[in-house]
Amino acid sequence: MTIKIAESRAELDFDQRQVVRVKAGDKWVSVAQVGDRLFAFADKCPHAGGCLSAGWINPLGNIVCPLHRYTFDVTNGRNTSGEGYYLKRWPIEETDDGIFLILS
Ligand code: FES
Repeated sequence: MTIKIAESRAELDFDQRQVVRVKAGDKWVSVAQVGDRLFAFADKCPHAGGCLSAGWINPLGNIVCPLHRYTFDVTNGRNTSGEGYYLKRWPIEETDDGIFLILS
């Protein structure tokens, strides 16, 4: 199932932040722009529920949770700070018709 999350990158307003929060159906999802690519992942940190869209992307391209500063690789969900958690992520598709999240 695919869900449209925006008409374009401009609508996601990456000028203000590298990570934004969008509603996809009944769930909140974080979308990050890293380099030229977009990545979608759970807005709720798998450690203790921190709001990842309030976090930031570090120089290595990992999302940093604002609560306890654990880090996750947005390309594969791996917990790069080593605590053993896994961040749920979803593929994103960008077409002329908009930006879509592919939910499995
Ligand atoms: S809630 Fe995210 S690191 Fe603890």
